[in-house]
Amino acid sequence: MNAPSHPNVTEKSAPLIDPFARAITYLRVSVTDRCDFRCVYCMAENMTFLPKKELLTLEELDRLSSAFIRLGVEKLRITGGEPLVRKGIMTYFEAMSRHLASGNLKELTLTTNGSQLARFAQPLVDAGVRRINVSLDTLDDDKFARVTRWGRLPQVISGIDAAQAAGLRIKINVVALKGFNEDELFRIVDWCAERDMDLTFIEVMPMGDLGGEDRVGQYWSLKDLRGQLAQQFTLQELDERTGGPARYVRLEETGQKIGFITPLTHNFCESCNRVRLTCTGELYMCLGQEDMADLRSPLRASTDDAYVEAAIRDAIKLKPKGHDFDYSRQKADGQVSRHMSHTGG
Ligand code: 5AD
Ligand code: SF4
Repeated sequence: MNAPSHPNVTEKSAPLIDPFARAITYLRVSVTDRCDFRCVYCMAENMTFLPKKELLTLEELDRLSSAFIRLGVEKLRITGGEPLVRKGIMTYFEAMSRHLASGNLKELTLTTNGSQLARFAQPLVDAGVRRINVSLDTLDDDKFARVTRWGRLPQVISGIDAAQAAGLRIKINVVALKGFNEDELFRIVDWCAERDMDLTFIEVMPMGDLGGEDRVGQYWSLKDLRGQLAQQFTLQELDERTGGPARYVRLEETGQKIGFITPLTHNFCESCNRVRLTCTGELYMCLGQEDMADLRSPLRASTDDAYVEAAIRDAIKLKPKGHDFDYSRQKADGQVSRHMSHTGG
């Protein structure tokens, strides 16, 4: 690599454009592989987590995120694992506020299981977070304990209460699970309407090793889920896109907007604007591909951020056109061996 002549520049550089002419403006950052839950479709009961030295420090997360922002990233979503169980994580959120203040970063947000929100809702608002996604698959205490193994619903509800009281806008993410939350479809829709929360359903993805689960964790097609919704509501298709996999409908009767994330279809790859950084500094160019670039080495090799910027530019050249998930084959083909907690949901 040629030594670039302007180290640690703070002004914005040329934007990141991938080989398919997509501008990369959205970075998802996993800040930990750990979680205080063990959702059956996400983690094994006994997980071995990474040793601390493998993780990017909070300072390294700041350096890397800031490099991406200089290269044109305008939206940061913090994920995990559960981001709020990372020790000292508010230091990182507070550090990112400076990019909101400068206007270079347009949105700072996170995806959380809600367990720590009672404590963190206000500090998050103070750091400039305005909207969050909360993962919640059921409104039944027993089922919640079953699907998350270690989670307790009342704790999450208190977290959601605190977040709304602090003024955070909430989107509930529900993983559609056959024979598990099918019977709660309308209850969940009503609950979100009552609390003025957005709602998105997610098709379960073939990640990691889900083997041997007691029927929780099964594929429920969103086409079928939509069909069930359509029996009770008039669905108006919205053509709004966020560069991500979500498609939206409006329920004409209530005005509610509902999202559907079907990661197994290819309908969104052409507008994909995002890349994912793991907590060890690996950059995944696509959720459904194994291709990744190590950014930790260039980051640790030099205090000159020009090296890591060059590594980011090289990595973006590897972003594939699309992914290979395919349930229609005999086995879950295109399955990716890593867990969601590794790449971030
Ligand atoms: N399929 C679909 N969604 C998943 N998540 C975790 N694992 C999977 C999977 N295998 C979701 C969580 C949460 C986000 C962090 O990722 O439910 O919404
Ligand atoms: Fe934790 Fe989210 Fe994975 Fe559940 S889905 S185990 S809450 S990271």
